[in-house]
Amino acid sequence: MKEKHLEALLKEERVFSPSEEFSQQAVIQDPSIYDQGQDYLSFWEEQAKNLSWFSPWEKTLQWNPPFAQWFINGKLNASYNCLDRHLNDWHRNKAALIFEGEMGDSQVLTYQDLHREVCKFANVLKSLGVKKGDPVTIYLPMIPEAIIAMLACARIGAPHSVVFGGFSYNFLRDRVQEVQSKVVITADGGFRRGKTIPLKVNTDLALSDVDCVNNVIVVEHTKEKVHMEEGWDLWYHEEMAKAPRICPPEPMDSEDTLFILYTSGTTGEPKGVVHSTGGYLTGVSTTHRWIFDLKEEDVYWCAEDIGWITGHSYVVYGPLANGATVLIYEGSPEYPHRGRYWEIIEKYQVSIFYTSPTAIRTFMKWGPYYPQKIDLSSLRLLGSVGEPINPEAWVWFHKYIGSGKCPIVDTWWQTETGMIMLTPLPGITNLKPGSCTVPFPGVKLEIVDKNGDPVPYGEGGYLVIKEPWPAMFRNIYGNPEFLQKTYFEHWPGVYFTGDGAKWDKDGYFWVLGRVDDVINVSGRRLGTMEVESALVDHPLVAEAACVGIKHELKGQALVAFVVMKEGVQGTPGLGDNLKNHVVKKIGALARPDDIHFTTELPKTRSGKILRHILRDIAEGKTIGDTTIVADSSVVNSLQSNYRR
Ligand code: WT7
Repeated sequence: MKEKHLEALLKEERVFSPSEEFSQQAVIQDPSIYDQGQDYLSFWEEQAKNLSWFSPWEKTLQWNPPFAQWFINGKLNASYNCLDRHLNDWHRNKAALIFEGEMGDSQVLTYQDLHREVCKFANVLKSLGVKKGDPVTIYLPMIPEAIIAMLACARIGAPHSVVFGGFSYNFLRDRVQEVQSKVVITADGGFRRGKTIPLKVNTDLALSDVDCVNNVIVVEHTKEKVHMEEGWDLWYHEEMAKAPRICPPEPMDSEDTLFILYTSGTTGEPKGVVHSTGGYLTGVSTTHRWIFDLKEEDVYWCAEDIGWITGHSYVVYGPLANGATVLIYEGSPEYPHRGRYWEIIEKYQVSIFYTSPTAIRTFMKWGPYYPQKIDLSSLRLLGSVGEPINPEAWVWFHKYIGSGKCPIVDTWWQTETGMIMLTPLPGITNLKPGSCTVPFPGVKLEIVDKNGDPVPYGEGGYLVIKEPWPAMFRNIYGNPEFLQKTYFEHWPGVYFTGDGAKWDKDGYFWVLGRVDDVINVSGRRLGTMEVESALVDHPLVAEAACVGIKHELKGQALVAFVVMKEGVQGTPGLGDNLKNHVVKKIGALARPDDIHFTTELPKTRSGKILRHILRDIAEGKTIGDTTIVADSSVVNSLQSNYRR
């Protein structure tokens, strides 16, 4: 028998077509858009014309793998595209940002307000000696000042490096040092679950032995007492009060760096992903408008932090370049109660809501009681990003949050891709729960075997990108060799995503998980997504993670870690029941050898399941470094409860 690259077991037959009503109002109604995307150079050139350029580009693409340049010699400014160009008409009085605090405090900034604040803050940065090309580190909670800081950097051509506020001071120190920031922007603290996060204290610890920094700008937010070092620490509001309000945008080359964003994925050292200006903005604004079906009246909420690429591309740059109204929320979904998100949706009449499978599975674990109490009828479109969404979680989201009427856009992409790559276009794509459907027009994804040849429909293999796309990352900061070695060494000129995927008979893409997590049972290779989805399909299960551990006969044995819905007790009988459920759903090959019940899974701070840590626990290994885990007490309790 020919060796399969990856088994394709899950058969999901449910199809959800967009309603007539939705299709007829959709931004994209004509499927011939995919034909236009075939000639990807002219397609992207067309899209780039929607931005405001100070001077036009001379050549669309220069591709010397692994290095791409788009819209060569074109000049533009990202903050001009996100702000100034909306000030010429009524948009100047449109809400750009709606901020909701954890305690229910709120603030609205129109495009004119945001423009003024950004110009002033850009002048503050200039007054501290920040120049074009100088990286600035931003370590802030999800507050308007975070977005003001990002856009102010963009305005003067200083690349920003945003560090998620939930990262420790060690992480912050390493990032500041790597990019050699002269200025760090932070706050006294941030709010989370009714408590405060000591951002300024962390910053002081991080910078105690760093010598590149000249000044720290501190936003007063929680109003806790913090140490302010004379001449070094500066209050944001004091500097803003002195700052002139006019600041012309710096004309930037299309290829100039807009930002650096450190990501560690689920394994390995954090790497600084470098993004450009012209190509990036073209990619994120086009995808945002078409995929989220953006209309003037929409209130758009992407419930992700600006510390992640989703926050950069789909809270800040995509939506603001499109003149959208963007809601941001500082706080957690369960504080002060588990209906907090739904309350916010009702309060602001949110129409588009974008979140992650990990959040959806948490809502599922809590049960439908919380959303059912609230009127969610303002919603018209839902989105998911970050991990494969299990079909049952998809259906739950559709039913209880989307009232059975909102299309769900399951969007696959990466920090490196900068923009969404696999996704439905909600007015024309038939949806299948668990599938991120098809490539966005103008991007060329395929599923290939070891030789780089496409696998037939119905089979699994490696997910790759065969042609450059405008928002692709331009480099790994300070480490171009890493770029070549990690992403381009498998097949010449082809970008390897690190994910396994299958194509179904209609050519829909199903992401099966990271290839590093593939489980090898008796020579058959299983992606984690299908087995996990078979478990989540059981009505009592909320979440599952599967790993392969060493087994003398089979190569690997399959161990499943399962989180039950609230109020359900995991018992040996239930374990057998779940094993049988998997067999019934996808076949005997995928029968878990062991089921381990738990109340939490170890995850990254961005909510991704850390399967390699579960593997180490199941193999009885000592777990070394847990800095990547959001909550290390989860690892400790799993370790002490695990029976072998
Ligand atoms: C990895 C990238 C993209 C922004 C947030 C994560 C997984 C992401 C999906 C999806 C299946 C997904 C992949 C990918 N992933 N979205 N819709 N379906 N898997 O960015 O931290 O760079 O992670 O997240 O494994 O490679 P990131």
